[in-house]
Amino acid sequence: MRKEKRLVIANWKMNPATLAEAKTLFRGTMASARKARRTTVVVCPPFVFLHELSRASKKGGARLGAQNIAFSDTGAFTGEVSAAQIMDGGGEYVIIGHSERRRMGETNGDVERKVERALTHGLTPIICVGENERDPHGNYLSFIAHQATAALEKVKLSHVKNIIIAYEPIWAIGKTGADAITPRKLHETTLFIRKILSEKYIKSVALGTTILYGGSAEPNNVSALLREGDIQGFLVGHASLDAKGFASIIHTTDSYIP
Ligand code: PGA
Repeated sequence: MRKEKRLVIANWKMNPATLAEAKTLFRGTMASARKARRTTVVVCPPFVFLHELSRASKKGGARLGAQNIAFSDTGAFTGEVSAAQIMDGGGEYVIIGHSERRRMGETNGDVERKVERALTHGLTPIICVGENERDPHGNYLSFIAHQATAALEKVKLSHVKNIIIAYEPIWAIGKTGADAITPRKLHETTLFIRKILSEKYIKSVALGTTILYGGSAEPNNVSALLREGDIQGFLVGHASLDAKGFASIIHTTDSYIP
């Protein structure tokens, strides 16, 4: 793992049910985020909690992000939330192209437009890529390449330092720590993603881009994934809903010595 930026991102998905619970969970996460020295902790709650949590985040600790963004800035898009609205709510990051949204119909073209909107407004896009299954012929690699290339289509060299890539194999999402990717397979995939970046941009971009792993990242597997995976942190789903477990993921990431 490189020394530079480390990131641990909580994707709360459609949890918790109430603002009161969200505040309690956020307080717990803030406490561990404050102890981190090298690691930025970002919480991506449901949109409705963003504004309220941003007040608590002003005290320092975790930063905030959204789980999706509209591909347009304004207009007749029922149910959508724009980049400007996310920023106004205190968000600085946005998850784009999560597999759960792609399953609801989001296309590579949508992802491309959303990444462009985010960057234009100064939000940091966390671009999710990842295959459904690992076939023995390696077709999953072209699947990842296709997703990554589409997402980066309009990202200029001068902006690429502002993006984060989250590699999330769909088959590993929402399982248990034992079902996550092996560190070796993760390393092969991050190398592959860096190769795509180096072909599109320059080698220093490939080496400098923050790549996260997501898919059943849990307190018991993050250390090995950091050691071998060539990643700079994690996008954490279910394990981020338990403040204690999430604190352990933050601590392991923060105290890891490459
Ligand atoms: P998980 O989710 O950690 O529950 O597997 C990760 C994600 O979907 O971002």
